[in-house]
Amino acid sequence: MKRFLLFLVIICCIAGNSKSQNFSIIPQPQKVGILEGEFVFKPETKIIAPLSLNTAAELFSEEMKDIIGRKITVTSKGNSSGNIVLRIEKTVSKPEGYELNISSGSIRVTASTGAGIFYGLQTIKQLLICSENGVLKAMTITDSPRFEWRGVMLDVSRTFMPLNLVKRYIDLFSQYKLNVVHLHLTDDQGWRIEIKKYPLLTEIGSKFDPEFNRMGGYYSQDEIRELVIYAKARNVMLVPEIELPGHASAAIASYPELSCENVRPVIHTFLEGKSIHEEIFCAGKESTYVMIFGILDELCELFPSPYIHIGGDEAPKAMWKRCPYCQKTMKDNNLSNEEELQSLFVKRIGDYLRSKNKTLVGWDEIIEGGKLSGDEVLMFWRGWKLSEVEKEVKSGFRVVCTPTTHCYFDYPYDKINTRTIYDYEPVRPGTSEKNYLGVQANFWSHIDRSEHNIDKQLFPRVLGLAETAWSKPENKNWDRFKPAAAKNIIYLKKAQNVNVFRDNFIEFP
Ligand code: ACM
Ligand code: ZN
Repeated sequence: MKRFLLFLVIICCIAGNSKSQNFSIIPQPQKVGILEGEFVFKPETKIIAPLSLNTAAELFSEEMKDIIGRKITVTSKGNSSGNIVLRIEKTVSKPEGYELNISSGSIRVTASTGAGIFYGLQTIKQLLICSENGVLKAMTITDSPRFEWRGVMLDVSRTFMPLNLVKRYIDLFSQYKLNVVHLHLTDDQGWRIEIKKYPLLTEIGSKFDPEFNRMGGYYSQDEIRELVIYAKARNVMLVPEIELPGHASAAIASYPELSCENVRPVIHTFLEGKSIHEEIFCAGKESTYVMIFGILDELCELFPSPYIHIGGDEAPKAMWKRCPYCQKTMKDNNLSNEEELQSLFVKRIGDYLRSKNKTLVGWDEIIEGGKLSGDEVLMFWRGWKLSEVEKEVKSGFRVVCTPTTHCYFDYPYDKINTRTIYDYEPVRPGTSEKNYLGVQANFWSHIDRSEHNIDKQLFPRVLGLAETAWSKPENKNWDRFKPAAAKNIIYLKKAQNVNVFRDNFIEFP
């Protein structure tokens, strides 16, 4: 850490002439006004915060060890002079917004929610990363996010990511004001969450066949509860995904009766098995729905998120075409093809989730078949079908944009680099921004990924994502972002031990 602090002083001496200070705030705030004077962090500087903001204040204080070399005392009493004051005020209207006021006498962060306060503190942290010995220029910042969903998906099915690794990514993402971690918990290559009612899902479904020398694993329900609390303290919503009806052979290996033909597939690794498995959940047997609803009951209890992702992508229909139960369901409901059956299947799950006050999210294929209710959230991933977004947004659907063209962080940097995601504009011409819930990057882990390797795929692209998700287009500027990103990369590498990829688009020492 000392190495980082020394580095910081050198960098700031070179670049940090305070008159021309280039503020390293990622994502760029909505409004910044520079004032006369400066605030100096002194050993006696405290954080004054009501008890309800204690967690946010303590997290900030802890991080100050890496930035100014010491923690800052948190207290609920005291006057503002020389201190950082956190205050909830309903006058700040945007739910995740905040106002930051830095003057020579004090720093004030006001927001109407804990989330806003958390983000105000992240902005102070960013300013300090390139301050000179804890000196901040006086300024006012009024800030709030462009999109309410600012996410990263982690595929913990193909490569199981231990709890501490997920926590580490929650820390790293949330400091850039990303607020959703979508956990892809199940796929053909593994079922990664304990379901008490159906224990074989993890007893069988979390393990690779012994032929494949690969680690499995799963999260117990206690671990999920711990993760939810951890994420909440950092204003991160965990959105669980259970893949249905396809990408489900780990579930079917555990309970073969879930499939049309009672088959028990082998749990392969991605590279050594078929990339898309034919075994999918039967949409005709009532017992399938009983089990799906049982799983969803436990999921809804565990995750406070109003959204539950049910997958829906890449479901081959060969088994449904042969299955008497599926074919009977189609006949009974006057359906003309298996796409309509999938749509009905998804609608029924959506209806169940609605009865539990949850909203269904699905990959964009769920619109095919035309039977949805309209309140489902579509996660648009098929970059070759982007014009569909326009159509569906115009018909009233809400969308989260995660296209393969800009948001697939498992792709190599020569396909998608930091500039690609930075320049991405999700709102399609002629559509209304209010239907865009937000933007998300997807990290698929088909090939076995070490922590070292995952870091490299995510960073520095996450910095570009953060600005695309938070900042208004008119506030984005690559030439301002680039040096800010370079400073953040130094911090990520030296203080947070992140293995940042050397993207040609950003120079850093
Ligand atoms: C996906 O990449 N199949 C959602
Ligand atoms: Zn069937």
